[in-house]
Amino acid sequence: MNQQNGYENSGTENTKRFFDNLLLKKGNEVIYKSSFDYISQVAKELRETQSFYLFDLADVLWKVQRWKEKVPHIRPFYAVKTNSDPVLLRLFVLLGFSFDCATEGEIRYILNAGGDPKNIIFAHVIKTPGALQYASSVGVNFMTFDSKEELLKIHKYYPEARLLLRLTPEDVQCSFDLSDKFGCEAEDAVEVLSLAKNLNLNVIGVSFHVGGLCKNPNSYAATIKISREVFQLGKKLGFDFTVLDIGGGFTGSKGSDELFDEITQVIKSALKEHFPEPDIEIIAEPGTFFAGSAVSLTTAICGKKERNIQQKTVNGMNPIQRFYYINDGIYGSFFSGSEHYGYRIKPLLKEPVLQQRPVYSSKIWGQTCCGEDLLVKECQLPDLEEGEFIIWENMGAYNQVLCSTFCGVPLPASKYVFINNPKLSLKWLSDPKQVLDLVSEKCSLVEKE
Ligand SMILES: Cc1ncc(COP(=O)(O)O)c(C=O)c1O
Repeated sequence: MNQQNGYENSGTENTKRFFDNLLLKKGNEVIYKSSFDYISQVAKELRETQSFYLFDLADVLWKVQRWKEKVPHIRPFYAVKTNSDPVLLRLFVLLGFSFDCATEGEIRYILNAGGDPKNIIFAHVIKTPGALQYASSVGVNFMTFDSKEELLKIHKYYPEARLLLRLTPEDVQCSFDLSDKFGCEAEDAVEVLSLAKNLNLNVIGVSFHVGGLCKNPNSYAATIKISREVFQLGKKLGFDFTVLDIGGGFTGSKGSDELFDEITQVIKSALKEHFPEPDIEIIAEPGTFFAGSAVSLTTAICGKKERNIQQKTVNGMNPIQRFYYINDGIYGSFFSGSEHYGYRIKPLLKEPVLQQRPVYSSKIWGQTCCGEDLLVKECQLPDLEEGEFIIWENMGAYNQVLCSTFCGVPLPASKYVFINNPKLSLKWLSDPKQVLDLVSEKCSLVEKE
């Protein structure tokens, strides 16, 4: 028995105990048999007035476990921009996480959630003078830069900061390319680092980001190789680099396990080859990986149009036979490009009911008056009715944070569940009690899927 936290050191035993304790704490509250039952209950309450996000905190713990299993030596700084839900951030704080904050606003979120300023990297290469002064006042002294101009600003407002030079990534193949806007080319590093030396600034390493949803593991390997060369350059210029930050770019949706395994394998070999020294700290800034699969969105069908079923096939495509209008849209949870994050559509109907419905080629529109507010151009859906619901899985990354209320459409609501997950092994949880309290306070429990 682990005296400190009262849990045995076997993973699944810990998880069982954790869930049993949750059940005890919840007392007489309803425990749902499946997330379908819980979603149906909330959907009945909210109807078409508001779409809603469902956060599964067990899925977040599962992702933390995966990270620890695959790359235990890489310290993750969760990228707050991906999903800054306060319960999610509090959970990460209780798990002892570090954070990547892009702005003063995000630093404030973390401090409000009880985070430690020493566990924050201010990972935006362009910071306002006010934000630098704020970072200095609260002790967030770790940050990135990619230009001489930013160095001059840092020198003026926060000369004691510990800095990482952000490099342009190599061999980029991703859905959201960041390499035009951010990063210093390796051949410019000598000039930039020489200025840092002249200004007596404290550069302690290198960072990069291969782009959102990286599809090419070699992008990490090739940029790790270049980072090593910049480490050598740093040494020549008299710096003592000790940190390599490999950024984000990891997929996070359900069904993307294989790519994550492949990417982490490539990263491990590249680090072994180019950064064998144990005293170099390797960190990362994953956002999508931790948040992507933990959140689903439930939307109501506010309107439907049946289209001319007699129409002939056009260019080998079935004609669209159904238009559905839902209570969310591209100005809400579905920003342009959100389909890259791998959402999966499921009508909120029981299997036997689904089986009886004819399937039609369908289009799904958002609720606003904008003609471009189109979410799915064509998909096969069982015939649905106004007042029924569609669930979208894998909606945790960059959806909620981008929602607006254009046309008076309300922001989606947020609900939290803990779905008992037999794959979860919680032996790494250093403070189960606090996590248990948070989960018990915020979540409805779902016994199994
Ligand atoms: C500097 C930085 N770090 C981390 C992230 C998170 O990336 P991802 O969601 O791909 O993990 C981003 C995303 O834009 C970023 O710009």
